[in-house]
Amino acid sequence: MKRILILGFLAAGAAFVALRWAPSPVAAAGGPSYTADGKLKLPTGYRKWVFIGAPLTPNGLNGGKAGFPEFHNVYVEDKNLTAYQKNGEFPEGTVIVKELVLLRKGAYPDGSADSPSGRGFAEGEFNGLDVTVKDSQRYAKTNKWGFYNFGHHALPYESAAKEGSAQECAGCHMAGASKTDMTWVDFYPVLRGKN
Ligand code: HEC
Repeated sequence: MKRILILGFLAAGAAFVALRWAPSPVAAAGGPSYTADGKLKLPTGYRKWVFIGAPLTPNGLNGGKAGFPEFHNVYVEDKNLTAYQKNGEFPEGTVIVKELVLLRKGAYPDGSADSPSGRGFAEGEFNGLDVTVKDSQRYAKTNKWGFYNFGHHALPYESAAKEGSAQECAGCHMAGASKTDMTWVDFYPVLRGKN
């Protein structure tokens, strides 16, 4: 009887601790967040969103001068991915993050390296962040999407970014991806064919 009481006491204690330490039910709200002067704040937590693909345009295939020699790791929140897969369109407030990640240094002139699984490319350090945000009113002039660059360099990135001009960003997406909600869905197997 005494033992049962002690066990009960321990279980109650453990439950109390677990409740105290459980993450707050108010999860970080997704969606874009802006500064008072209208800049987009650096998204947080995106490396735990759904990773949808990593286009790669390495120097080794671009005469040593690729504009973006890194992997382009692309992330979107689960609920927005699910909505696109259902409707062929992203919901208002969708944020898509493209993080540039340098190649891990390899011994070959094209940057590749030998590894136990074969010769190839692997990811090195984080090196830049581009973000798109869907808001059909705020970005009416650029086909419902806003474009932001938080730096093309090692961490840390800028904490807030000014909207990129149509010439810098949106123009190219409008020319090549306007039929697929301004997103290059052909590069991502989980989006391809869902529009
Ligand atoms: C010359 C054309 C071009 C310009 C200019 C351009 N992009 Fe892109 N962007 C692409 C292509 C192509 C992809 C997909 C393939 C890749 O990443 O290589 C892409 C992918 C993206 C993605 C991932 C989601 C998606 O649509 O596939 C984001 C986010 C993004 N671009 C933001 C930006 C921002 C911010 C700028 C301006 C600073 C910019 N882009 C300028 C062509 C362009």
